[in-house]
This record gives sequence, structure tokens and C-alpha cells, in this order.
Amino acid sequence: MKELWKKRQELVERALQEELANTAILDEKLRESMAYSLMAGGKRLRPILLMAAADAVGVDGTRFLPVACALEMIHTYSLIHDDLPAMDNDELRRGKPTNHVVYGEGPAILAGDALLTLAFTVILRQKDVSAEALLRVVDEISRAAGAEGMVGGQMLDLEAENRQISIDELRRVHMGKTGALFRAALRSGAILAGAAEDQLEALTAYANHFGLAFQITDDILDVIGTAEEIGKPVGSDEKNHKSTYVSLTSLEDAQDLARRTVQEAESALYIFGERAAFLRELVGYLVNRKQ
Ligand code: IPE
Ligand code: IPE
Ligand code: MG
Ligand code: MG
Ligand code: MG
Repeated sequence: MKELWKKRQELVERALQEELANTAILDEKLRESMAYSLMAGGKRLRPILLMAAADAVGVDGTRFLPVACALEMIHTYSLIHDDLPAMDNDELRRGKPTNHVVYGEGPAILAGDALLTLAFTVILRQKDVSAEALLRVVDEISRAAGAEGMVGGQMLDLEAENRQISIDELRRVHMGKTGALFRAALRSGAILAGAAEDQLEALTAYANHFGLAFQITDDILDVIGTAEEIGKPVGSDEKNHKSTYVSLTSLEDAQDLARRTVQEAESALYIFGERAAFLRELVGYLVNRKQ
């Protein structure tokens, strides 16, 4: 699993570089700040999930590299904005000073805006798929990125600061701010590969459990991780009085829920048999991660 992950990460790195190079960015500082965050590393999970979903359906996922890269651009934009003083006000990301610390708040906001919009240009660079499939994917991704998905979840997250919310409400926050892009990644990979309805449903169920398990783990690492390993500050959630599984329940309960959610994610994949081995292994690996 790790080997394939690494190989695909390298593909994504190269493709992202190329997409930036192929874009006529009007201002050099804007180009620099976009590249600063986009090329700062990161696990590249969303592109990798998109490709792995296509693999599970039986089509080589690397054929869909442009759409995969677009997801990473949207994700990176969400991180730049998430770190801004008006949001989580954090100064470390992917092991480096955050975008606004280096380039200033205005340019950081614009770098985020530019990455979000560039994503849709890049999706349209995808070759060898039907226009119909591509339109479906744009629908999936634009809705997942926006008020119905990530942005909506970020808003719920802001509104849950400084107050006690229910576990159900917290689940809605997580499914939006984190789950939606994972769902779009897996569903887009499936759609591009021409998945049958039951395959799409199975990957959607996996995505929902994956997203939840992933964000619970992110919340846990914010408490027990080290800045060196996670590449971002620890204690950010407590500083901002965020509602998380750890703050609403306990560290042990959160770890327990993450483990149970992993099992649900794994079992959602049974119809794929061996073709989903990568996805099955990935989710278990990610809840035990240190970064
Ligand atoms: C961090 O995402 C933000 C969350 C949704 C929790 P990742 O943990 O995937 O961050 P990178 O891309 O590896 O930096
Ligand atoms: C934000 O969640 C998820 C995004 C949409 C960026 P967090 O605020 O917990 O993400 P980190 O911990 O800063 O990466
Ligand atoms: Mg946040
Ligand atoms: Mg944050
Ligand atoms: Mg976090």
C-alpha cells in the first residue's frame, strides 16, 4: 500500500508543478504564494483516493490525474483560508510558516481564491472521458467544495466555537468540512471509471466513514501529536475553543469511535474484493498515523 501511495504521490507532485507552469498567472508574487502552499508536501490523499476509487472499479486511476490534481488545489485553498487570522489563526502548515505569515493576508486570500478557480480550469484539461461524465464530476466537486459541503462545514465549525454542541451536530460539522471533499474524490473517481450504481454507493459509504474517521483522528492529533510530526501547531482546537470529539467526549472514546468507524469503512468495500485492498488498508493506516 505504502509503495503505491508513494508512487502516486510523486505523479501528483509532478502534475501539480506542470499545471502551475501551464497557467499564465499575472503576478509573480501570486504565483509564488500559490506554489508555496501547493508544493509544500502534504499527504495528497484526495487525489490518491480519486485514483484508488477508479482502480477499485477496474480502470487505471492514473488516467484521471487532472481531476485528481484539481481536488488537491481545492484542498490546499481550504487550508490557506483555514489558517487565516480570522479563521483558526495558525502559523504552521505542512511544516512551514503559513501562507499569510509569509506573504500577508491579502495575498494569502487571493492565493486561495486562485487555487480554487484554477481547479476548475484543470478539470477541463481532463482528456479521454465523456463530456457527460466530466459534467457530473464538476457537479460533485463544486457542490462538495461549497456551501453544501466544505465551506458549509467550516461555517458550522465557526459557529460551534465557544459552545457545547451535540455529537450529532459535531458529526454534521465533520461530514461537511472534511467529509465532503473525500466523498467527492471517491465518487468522482468512480464516475470517471464508469462505475455501476452499487459500486458508486459502496464507495460513497466508504467515503462517509473514511471522512469521519479521518477528522476524528485529526482532532486526536491536535491533542496528542507533535508539531514536528503533524507539521501544524498542536492545541489549535483548544486555543480556538473548538468542538471536537476529544473535547465533547474523551480521548479514549474518540479513539474508540475512530477504530469502529474504520471497520465500517472497510466493510463497505466488500463488493470489490481484492481490487479495493488499497482502500481497505489505507483507512486503517490513517487512523493510526502520526502526521
Ligand atoms: C488537513 O488535511 C485538514 C483536514 C481536513 C483535517 P490533511 O491531513 O489531508 O492535510 P495535508 O494535505 O496532508 O497537509
Ligand atoms: C479544517 O479542519 C478542515 C478544512 C476544511 C481545512 P481543521 O481546522 O481541524 O484542519 P487543520 O487541523 O487546521 O488541518
Ligand atoms: Mg479549522
Ligand atoms: Mg485549522
Ligand atoms: Mg484539526
